[in-house]
Amino acid sequence: MNILLTGGAGYIGTHTIVELFKAGHSVVVVDNFVNSHPEALKRVESIAGRQVPFVQADIRNREALEKLFSNYAIDAVINFAGLKAVGESVEKPLEYYENNMNGLFVLVDVMRKNNCKNIIFSSSATVYGDPAIIPITEDCPKGQCTNPYGWTKSMLEQVLMDIQKADHSWNVVLLRYFNPIGAHESGLIGENPNGIPNNLMPYITQTAIGIRKELGVFGNDYDTPDGTGVRDYIHVVDLARGHVAALKAIEQNKGLAIYNLGTGHGYSVLDVVKAFEKVNNMKVPYVIKPRRAGDIATCYCNPSKAKEELGWEAIYGIDEMCRDSWKFQKNNPNGYETETNSKQL
Ligand code: NAD
Ligand code: WQD
Repeated sequence: MNILLTGGAGYIGTHTIVELFKAGHSVVVVDNFVNSHPEALKRVESIAGRQVPFVQADIRNREALEKLFSNYAIDAVINFAGLKAVGESVEKPLEYYENNMNGLFVLVDVMRKNNCKNIIFSSSATVYGDPAIIPITEDCPKGQCTNPYGWTKSMLEQVLMDIQKADHSWNVVLLRYFNPIGAHESGLIGENPNGIPNNLMPYITQTAIGIRKELGVFGNDYDTPDGTGVRDYIHVVDLARGHVAALKAIEQNKGLAIYNLGTGHGYSVLDVVKAFEKVNNMKVPYVIKPRRAGDIATCYCNPSKAKEELGWEAIYGIDEMCRDSWKFQKNNPNGYETETNSKQL
């Protein structure tokens, strides 16, 4: 298939391009680089040994999208494009609602006009709120989100479900990602956050390399085995493979399909720190801090639906996640910014 990846220059998008190529698909990428760097696509090209067709545009720009659809025959779209920083979404709710919601509205409208009615949407475990069931299955009721970012995911899921309900010729696949970490084994592509990282793994790798003094562990009084928060970390390459597998739901004309993409294992913050220290043979200094507002104690999924219906399951464990996150950080201490490419920009 020929797949359009919106936001394809980002963390999950770049890894997904590599896996789509491996599986024999072709791609087109649209991105406005609001949270990514052109160098990331060059790195994908060197891993894949081929060019990545690319259009630099904002998906809210209808004209640009219409031109893209008239220049390329697109079979399906994976919509990664969106702003994703939880804390920033609390500070700038309008910008988050505007970008994430309008982006999808314009995209879906242009898709419909071009009779491309297959979409895979990047959703999140955050839609479960404080989950009613652990491990979380897809029929676990959705919950209250604690920030505007989470609400954009929850509401956009609803928008896509309503579109599919009104017109059964749509195939809508909602992928609820758990906690993606890790990087491609080449060390060429990985997570490249702007400023102070919000998420655990980039904070650990930046502490390990000396950019941050110590990791703050947000709370050790949760009702979990060691008191720190438990999450379902998933290697980004497994997540990328999950998108290739999700194309099966489109090929089979499933209509609406919802899948959790996680490993089904819960690791605490201290489990991750210990695994990172062991695998990479280094120390990660940390201090216990108060709980972070909006955090929950435990969140991990039951991923068996994706295994049964798509034949997908995660193959990497926490050790590979820690090894590959560190490899990317170590090889790219300043992310994608290098002396050569920063002069080019
Ligand atoms: P990312 O920020 O690395 O990638 C998103 C990409 O979208 C970036 O390259 C950015 O420049 C682009 N973008 C944003 N708004 C755009 C717009 N209006 N037009 C064109 N491009 C735009 O994030 P990621 O971690 O790769 O996440 C991809 C998707 O998965 C996002 O929708 C995110 O919300 C979702 N998600 C991520 C996680 C996670 O922990 N990383 C978890 C669950 C869901
Ligand atoms: C993991 C654990 C923290 C940082 C977020 C979004 C979610 C999804 C994935 C996009 C928690 C603890 C963290 C630190 C810490 N993103 N922690 N010190 O909160 O599970 O999920 O990213 O969709 O929507 O909410 O991930 O990596 O921020 O935190 O102790 O410096 O690590 O308290 O227990 P989270 P995270």
